[in-house]
Parts: sequence; C-alpha cells; structure tokens
Amino acid sequence: MYRTHHCGALRLEDAGKEITLAGWVDISRNLGGMTFIDLRDRFGITQLAFNMEENADLCNQARKVGREWVLQATGVVRERSSKNANRPTGDVEISVTALEVLNSSKVPPFTIQDETDGGDDIRMKFRYLDLRRNPVQQNILFRHKLAMETRKYLSDAEFIEVETPVLIKSTPEGARDFVVPSRINAGQFYALPQSPQTFKQLLMVSGFDRYFQIVKCFRDEDLRADRQPEFTQIDCEMSFVHQEDILNTFEGLTRHLFQTLKGIELRDFPRMQYDDAVRLYGSDKPDLRFGMQFKELNHLAKGKDFAIFDHAELIVGVCADGIADQFSNKDLNEMTEWVKRPQIGAGGLVYVRFNTDGSIKSSIGKFFSDEDLQQWAAEFGAKAGDILFIMSGETDKVRKQLSELRLELGNRLGLRKSDEFKPLWVLDFPLLEWDETTERFYAMHHPFTSPKKADIPRMLNGDHETMKSLRADAYDLVINGVEIGGGSIRIHDRELQSKNFKLLGFTPEKAEDQFGFLVGAFEYGAPPHGGIAFGLDRLCAVLNGQNSIRDFIAFPKNNMGRDTMIDAPSAIDDVQLNELSIQLDIKK
Ligand code: AMO
Repeated sequence: MYRTHHCGALRLEDAGKEITLAGWVDISRNLGGMTFIDLRDRFGITQLAFNMEENADLCNQARKVGREWVLQATGVVRERSSKNANRPTGDVEISVTALEVLNSSKVPPFTIQDETDGGDDIRMKFRYLDLRRNPVQQNILFRHKLAMETRKYLSDAEFIEVETPVLIKSTPEGARDFVVPSRINAGQFYALPQSPQTFKQLLMVSGFDRYFQIVKCFRDEDLRADRQPEFTQIDCEMSFVHQEDILNTFEGLTRHLFQTLKGIELRDFPRMQYDDAVRLYGSDKPDLRFGMQFKELNHLAKGKDFAIFDHAELIVGVCADGIADQFSNKDLNEMTEWVKRPQIGAGGLVYVRFNTDGSIKSSIGKFFSDEDLQQWAAEFGAKAGDILFIMSGETDKVRKQLSELRLELGNRLGLRKSDEFKPLWVLDFPLLEWDETTERFYAMHHPFTSPKKADIPRMLNGDHETMKSLRADAYDLVINGVEIGGGSIRIHDRELQSKNFKLLGFTPEKAEDQFGFLVGAFEYGAPPHGGIAFGLDRLCAVLNGQNSIRDFIAFPKNNMGRDTMIDAPSAIDDVQLNELSIQLDIKK
C-alpha cells in the first residue's frame, strides 16, 4: 500500500497513529536541528518533521529533496507545538521514521503555490504543473461537482443522457465550423458540431421525450474571456412543452446548482422582454446587480441649439447615485476619454453634476439652463449628489456604448459584487435580424426557432418590414450580465420551417441539401418540442464570481486558439496531406 491516508486527512484525534503518506514536496525548511517538509496531494498538505538529534541520516536525506519531488513518508502523528490555524491538518505533524523518494523533479518553471510567480504564457505551456496549484485544482473539482449535480438533477427529472456524433455536416448558419477532412471520401469534410441542435430535435422525433448531454461544442469564432473555441454545454431538449415548462425546469436546475454548490438560495428569477432589456440597459444581457437604468431625453434635450443632440437619433443617459463628492472633474475627463477609445467608439460624453451644495455643473451649460437641467433631474429622479452621464447618436450604437459605460461605472463604483447573484430570463427575442451589409435576414437564435404563435399569421403573410418585428419563443438565462444559456421552442411544422428557411435566404434545394434530414423527419410525426443549452464553463465561472472561463477548463486554448502545451494547431506532413487528398497553397 502506497499510503494509509491522504495529505488532508489527519487531525489531532489521530495522534499516536503510525501512518504512511505519499505526495509532492510543497516546500521544505531547514531550521538547524529540525527539518520540515510540507507534503501535498489533491486533498491537502501535511507537515513532515525530521529531527537531527533523533535520526541524523533521515534528516540529511530530507534536506536533499527539492520542490515537487515525490515522496513516501511513514511516521507517527503527533501534536504540533506551533499550530497552523489556516490548514485543516495544522494541529498535527508526522514524526517521520522512514522516507522514500518515489521520484525527483526538475526545478519547476514557476512556484506551485496559491499565489504563483508564473505569468500566463508559462503557466499555459506547463499547464500540468499549473493544475497542481490548489486554486486551479479547486476550480476543476468545482466543475466536476457541477457536472455531477447537473446529471443528478436532470436524471431525477426523467432526462436521459444521449451522446450525439462529433463528426457531422457543415452548415452555413451561426459561427464558423471547424472542419475535418475525410480520407476515404476524398475532397469531403466533416464539421465539428457547434451544438447538437439538430440531433436533439431528431431525438424528440424518436420519442425520447427528455434528452440532455454534457457535451463539447466547437466554434471557430473570435475568442474572449468568456469564449473558447471548444467549450461545454449542458444541452437539453423536451417534448410536449411550452416555454413556461422549460423556464421552470431550468430555473429549478439553476437553483439546485446554487444551493448544492454554494449553499445559496436564489430568490427571484425576474423576466424581462428583450425590447425592454435593450431599451433600459442597452443590452440583451443586463447585469441587474445594480440599477442605473437608461432614461431617454429626446423630448427634453432637443431644440436647444446643441447641434450634437439636435442631430442625434437618440439622447440617453444614466444617473449615478451619490457620487458627486467622490467623482472629481479628473474622473469625469477620464470617463470621457474611456468612451472615446476605439473599443467603445463614442464621440463624447456629457455630464451633469448635481452638487451637494445645490449647484449644478454641466459640460453643456452653455446650451442648457439650470431649469432645463432640473427637468432632466426630474426625468431621472436625480437628487443633489448625483451625476448624470449622457450620450447621443444612432440608437443601436449609442445604446451599446452607454451599456459599456454603465458596466464600467458599476466596476469603478464597486457595484458588481462577486458574491451577489442576480439571475434574469430575457424573453421574446426577435425571430430575425436584418443585416445591412449582406442585405439578408439571419436567425437571431437559430433557423429552427419558432415565432410566437400570435406572430405566425404575420410571418406567413406579412411584407419585408413586418418580418423585422416578428418575435420568437426564444429565451436566454442571464446571471450577473453573463449569458449563461439560451434556447427556444422549435418549429415542428414543415410548412413553417420552409417559410423560415426562405426568409433566411435558402433556396428549397439548398434547404433540402443542408437540413433535408431534419425537415424530412418532421413529416413522420414530430412532437411539439423545445429546449435550451447552458454554457457549463460560464456557469462555473459566474458561480465563482470570475470572468474568465479558462480557469475552469483543464486544458484551455489561449486567445489565438492555440494549445501551447501540445503546440496545436500544427502542420501535418505531406504523407498525411496526400492521404487526405489535400494540397496546400498557403498565402503568407
Ligand atoms: P447558444 O449558441 O446560445 O445556443 O449556446 C448556448 C450557451 O453556450 C455558451 N457558449 C459558449 N461558451 C463558451 N465559449 C463559447 N464560444 C460559447 N458559445 C456559446 C453560452 C450560451 O448561452 N443549440 C442552441 C441551444 C438551444 O437552442 O437549445 C445553442 O447552442 O453560455
């Protein structure tokens, strides 16, 4: 037996027991007559003690071991004279009687401690060492628990897990596909699934009734802190359900995960129309941990000879409560520069400061009297001590810009607390999105999403403009401003599906070529159905109050989509290319 206990197991009540531990050297200290080694494994750290007077050979052996060596130590558990209250095993140490070096280690390229000295790049290259660090291990452990609790909850609710294929057919919708060449079908390619969407719908046609899968999805899109090219979904589909059934089931799953993993009872799960989210927060994923709802000022701010406002489609602002004393003019200038950065792209920022002494200071005082500005205050419900931040321009753009500013103000004012959780269902997304550049409609969710029942006659008979106003039975779960999941009720009627494909610019032949298998299946008794998929990586990050999903993925890609540890992607040799009938002509 390599060990009798884990390195996190021993307590004061074990004093006197002879035990054996195995693990890695976290740190060692030589203090004259005594040598101490902290031995680490996944479960914790236990102090090993060696006494020069009692056993000089053993003590000298202990002094030779370095960081990250792998040891097996046998000894007797005893009470420590100086206890470590920060460690569950901190009351005891092992008086070692036998030590075996199971393996030595090179000096690691960064310290394997909670606070490491290693930068991002080096930690990614040596990810297997980074994964030895306790905070990273805890994240991966958390992910495991989340997956287990999800399986338990869904299985108890009669969902069954079904695996769907990874080598599938490329489709032009959504993000770009990753493709895989087929050797035995020269010149043809599989695609890796962006999601198992069509397969889970087919499983409903097959009568499985409730499906789920914790599944890898692949999307060749620009990467960000909350996006990886391969990520994991908790993917689900249900038959004979309305939107309400799906929302209730997944509200239940979300509550269960918060309860079991964090001991948090989520209180309300408010719902908001997509249109309201965009109008009030400039975003379809508002962070409700703080207020600062948008207020529109066109009716008050136009016609006062301030050309920028007079020419703007929308004048809109937010009110930051009680910050007039803490926000200096320098801070205001900084915010103005912040919104002008190319990432935000605003022309400028107007502010109105309602000082606590009753005076009003504004960047556009030339054009607006104090009475005008008092009217604005009334619109916002602003009082002395508040500052209004106002932007103007094209409606869609200015809403996005103000949304970014709102989030930044939330950050600067400490209003986005990492231990506070505000879920929100955003409902009734538009069915279609018109793209000016390509002059065509795109599916806002995906091409299988059903319009709202009341909108079906308008969809079948309406003109081009009508199509822009169609609403879908589509919903997103947002927590703290992060899109955790999205789903919809599906079209299960062939006619309606054909009409949707037509609106999306598919000829009947192309629709048949791309999705014939699904539409064909709908002719064999497709039940009404709908579903949702949660981003598992995002759920892990949000539950832990973090932004980056990379920390919850054992082997993530960097922001160039590279795995620097295994050095992928990489070139393949000519023999392999020939087998795949591929000739490369790479333009540098
Ligand atoms: P959707 O495309 O909204 O829906 O994806 C569902 C959820 O997956 C997560 N997600 C990602 N997470 C990390 N990296 C990415 N690149 C990434 N892309 C998406 C998000 C998102 O909310 N088939 C539909 C679901 C359905 O209709 O049932 C789908 O894939 O958290």
